[in-house]
Amino acid sequence: MSAQSPAPAKRIGVPDIRARKGGEPLVCLTAYDAPTARLLDPHCDLLLVGDSVGMVVHGLPNTIPVTLEMMILHGQAVMRGASRSMVVVDMPFGSYEASPEQAFSNAARILRETGAQAVKLESGVYIADTIRYLAERGVPVMAHVGLRPQAALAEGGFKAKGRNDDERARVISEAQAADAAGAFAIVIEGVAEDLAAEITGAVAAPTIGIGASASCDGQILVTPDMLGLFDWTPRFVKRYADLKALTEGAVRAYADDVRARRFPGPDQVYRITRA
Ligand code: KIV
Repeated sequence: MSAQSPAPAKRIGVPDIRARKGGEPLVCLTAYDAPTARLLDPHCDLLLVGDSVGMVVHGLPNTIPVTLEMMILHGQAVMRGASRSMVVVDMPFGSYEASPEQAFSNAARILRETGAQAVKLESGVYIADTIRYLAERGVPVMAHVGLRPQAALAEGGFKAKGRNDDERARVISEAQAADAAGAFAIVIEGVAEDLAAEITGAVAAPTIGIGASASCDGQILVTPDMLGLFDWTPRFVKRYADLKALTEGAVRAYADDVRARRFPGPDQVYRITRA
């Protein structure tokens, strides 16, 4: 690096995220590749390499088939595009549930091979011991409670949580167990506003909502959803762009141009003068 190079931007880390509890809302989005991460990075506090990559990039029906190798590959790509936001990588189904030791060895691989700063895992109450085991060994953990997509097979789909007293109590215990075990932040997915507010008030870690109202300490969305890349999006998603229509329009125009021999035109051809 030359003496004149500007100092690299300082990357947001665990203490910065924790300091935002009850303060300015945390801005988070998912990212799966380097060019998108580069576009999101200046505007976000945290980029999540979510296992939603299986569905939105690889066309899978749910997140169950996503592998550790896929998460590492996408984590490496996002780290190449993001210099400022904290980058968190999801631990996929089957990579952390068997034992705290299994979780540590796979979390260590993710951190070592991607350079990301933390992992996220979906957190039933039973996983609290694993969160503690990881946190005590220097692995920052983000928990994920409420609607847990990796439970889709067992639960018969993606269903909002908190429909009765038992379910509400279970989601609150999941969040409190993760908090007490040392999770530095907690994603709350698919719950009503009063439950999100109760959880946010009951835990020391900042909560990050997805379909969980503005009562959380921050928000996250699946980026292709908020950019309008798909016909269908869940009810809680606000579309900030219509990328599907834009892409279809651009591809249609390209196809018309190629068929009519309008592309490439004079501006797109090399003019090489022979020596
Ligand atoms: O995988 C993912 O994208 C997630 C978000 C929905 C929080 O877990």
